[in-house]
Amino acid sequence: MRGNFIFCNPTKLYFGDSSLNYLKDELKKYGPKVQLIYGGGSIKKNGLYDEVIKILKERDKIIIEDAGVMPNPTVEKLYEGAKMAKENNIDLILAVGGGSVVDYAKAVSVSAYCEEDPWDKYYLRFEEPSCKIIPVGCVLTMVGTGSEMNGGAVITNHQSKMKVGHVFGEEVFPKFAILNPLYTYTVPQYQMVAGFFDIMSHIMEQYFSDYDDNTSDYLMEGLMRSLINSSLIAVKNPKDYDARSNIMWIATWALNTLVAKGKKTDWTVHGIGQHIAAYTDATHGMTLSSVSIAYYRYIMPYGLDKFKRFALEVWKVNPSSKSDEEIALEGLKCLEKWMKEIGLAMSIKEVGVKEDMIDTIAQTINLDEGGYLNLTKEDVAKILRNSL
Ligand code: NZQ
Ligand code: ZN
Repeated sequence: MRGNFIFCNPTKLYFGDSSLNYLKDELKKYGPKVQLIYGGGSIKKNGLYDEVIKILKERDKIIIEDAGVMPNPTVEKLYEGAKMAKENNIDLILAVGGGSVVDYAKAVSVSAYCEEDPWDKYYLRFEEPSCKIIPVGCVLTMVGTGSEMNGGAVITNHQSKMKVGHVFGEEVFPKFAILNPLYTYTVPQYQMVAGFFDIMSHIMEQYFSDYDDNTSDYLMEGLMRSLINSSLIAVKNPKDYDARSNIMWIATWALNTLVAKGKKTDWTVHGIGQHIAAYTDATHGMTLSSVSIAYYRYIMPYGLDKFKRFALEVWKVNPSSKSDEEIALEGLKCLEKWMKEIGLAMSIKEVGVKEDMIDTIAQTINLDEGGYLNLTKEDVAKILRNSL
């Protein structure tokens, strides 16, 4: 394990079917004004809204509602939420929802008192906040992003066709996160499996890099095996508590900074997936699944040893009388079979990309240096064509 690193995760996490009981204790720590952020109404249908309002009222909170956060939250919505937070002198932002709601809450927390345009400062220039940051807490209802225990906040600007994630520091992580697997039972199947693949992708983006012997890789192999096992159970029976609770916990650990420690990370699939979503507004996890097989086949020769290890350790491929390349390819075939079995988008057409959009998407993408191969725009165009 050769990297140098600091590890600190300040989020206090309450997990389990009675975890909402702790909300009242957390609320004691903050002043009276709460900006209650939620999405398009799922929490009203499943009763969680009523439960949260009851607890807020018991604590004599003044509730300012900020509803209608859309999947892939927009910069226009961010401006609205930031204005609301500042005008109401908010003491605590409480996000109740999925990754979009939690991401948006974090973006509002650093934008309310920002003296310039937060889009320019955080999403174009990637500067760190230099203003007061409002504390955020969350009650998570959809699993996948890891937003409940990290500093990520992804915002979409449809006008400039950009979907950008800023990974903020510890001061922006949620102060507390409440995770009750029962709340995820009402997530529609399409969103549920998209979330499952988001988790898998987070792990693979951090796994496929470097050549040294690193404990983080062993942790990730365990997380992937548990995810594969539980996802196959959950697609057949979404109310299997063991499966849903395991997946909720895996999602948190997949992106709460732990497994990236001591490693380079890739994030190319996310770079391509987010850029597709900037054009099509498609569901995050599905944009990732639609390009993953083509991407990993493309880079496999540059990281052959790791792809072989992935096949052996995660998919238990039988290596006898096979070359390293055959073993590695069989691992990717197992990945593809699992993806089809749980019902993911396997082609970019399924997430709204038409063939005549490919060159524009490839030419306008900005990719950081990644894992085993740094892609050119021409490579991206080839991968997108292979994903049709
Ligand atoms: O808006 P409501 O009505 O709540 O419905 C949502 C939404 O339509 C619904 N949903 C959520 N919980 C539900 C439910 N429906 C019924 N019952 C429930 N319990 O599911 C739909 C999708 O929700 P959303 O929050 O958009 O999904 P997800 O959690 O996948 O979040 C996606 C966003 O997170 C970003 C993505 O780019 C995308 O913008 N990401 C954030 C990351 C981070 N913070 O580190 C990393 C990820 O890679 C990702 O980029
Ligand atoms: Zn993701």
